Amino acid sequence: MRRIFSGIQPTGIPQLGNYLGAIRNWVGLQRDNECIFCLVDMHAITVWQDPAALREQTLAQTAVLLASGIDVQRHILFNQSAVTAHARLAWIFNCVARLGWLNRMTQFKDKAGKDRENHSAGLYVYPDLMAADILTYKATAVPVGDDQRQHLELTNDIAQKFNHDYGLDFFPIVEALIPPQGARIMSLRDGTKKMSKSDPSAQSRIEMTDDADTIALKIRRAKTDPEPLPAEESGLENRPEARNLVTIYATLQQCSIQDVLNQHGGEGFGPFKKALTDVLVQHIAPIADETTRLLKEPGFLRDTLRDGARRANVIAEPIVAEAEALVGF
Ligand code: ADP
Ligand code: NA
Repeated sequence: MRRIFSGIQPTGIPQLGNYLGAIRNWVGLQRDNECIFCLVDMHAITVWQDPAALREQTLAQTAVLLASGIDVQRHILFNQSAVTAHARLAWIFNCVARLGWLNRMTQFKDKAGKDRENHSAGLYVYPDLMAADILTYKATAVPVGDDQRQHLELTNDIAQKFNHDYGLDFFPIVEALIPPQGARIMSLRDGTKKMSKSDPSAQSRIEMTDDADTIALKIRRAKTDPEPLPAEESGLENRPEARNLVTIYATLQQCSIQDVLNQHGGEGFGPFKKALTDVLVQHIAPIADETTRLLKEPGFLRDTLRDGARRANVIAEPIVAEAEALVGF
């Protein structure tokens, strides 16, 4: 049985891209794998977070994950800061990773933009902590969206250098599980930017707790072009917004882009957006309702995380203690 690790930042309500790129796949992987899912609050503070909001969002996100079908009886769900092994291994990895490797990370460049000097050192070494998250458990497969591909390559570079420097074959090679469709859902306001919780505009994303009216409004306002939907997939070339809406529809319905065009090709965006709204509401409403119910039980949510951290620690502690011994601690 493979051991799976994956994480999400508790920086807001999960958005549709998180769901289609990651969370829905986590749910499916639970059947045949040992899964460890993590709310990465240490990653979250690489950019400023209001402390009370971070605490609240950690619970809200726990509720969304449970509502989405994460099974904490059979698998582990916890928040990163509660298992100190992550930070200890991350420090070792800060000393293994080369500055040249980190300099190539496009996510840092995207997030820091031109104002590089004013970002935290934590944001820069974010990928070292991510490598530590995974290898703290010697996980071998990581379901993620496309934006994390480069960080997983770096994880393997770090593991290989650690193995070379300290202990042959100590850390395994990690495989990225990137879904063939839905791995990069784009912003509703700008088809060239990925949908993200941290985008300042809430209109740019569908949140997994949005009600039917909110979804309808966001989709109605989503940027499109004046052309009707094409009959063939090639007709979506250079139409990023149109492609994105069709991709969302196809991924939700687990069919191909061509299947959607067979059904809706030739339609204008008015009717297509109505159809898309219906499909979104059908998928999101049950998750939103269950989340609302769970949010009324913060004690239960806290207990769930505490129990997850205890079980995560049982796996993490001996692995990281052994890594520390290899280093000479
Ligand atoms: P965000 O940018 O929304 O804060 P996170 O960094 O918390 O996202 O990522 C959580 C998971 O969701 C990761 O596996 C990431 O690859 C995936 N993910 C994030 N945004 C998208 C997107 N727009 N499309 C598909 N997957 C995404
Ligand atoms: Na991200």
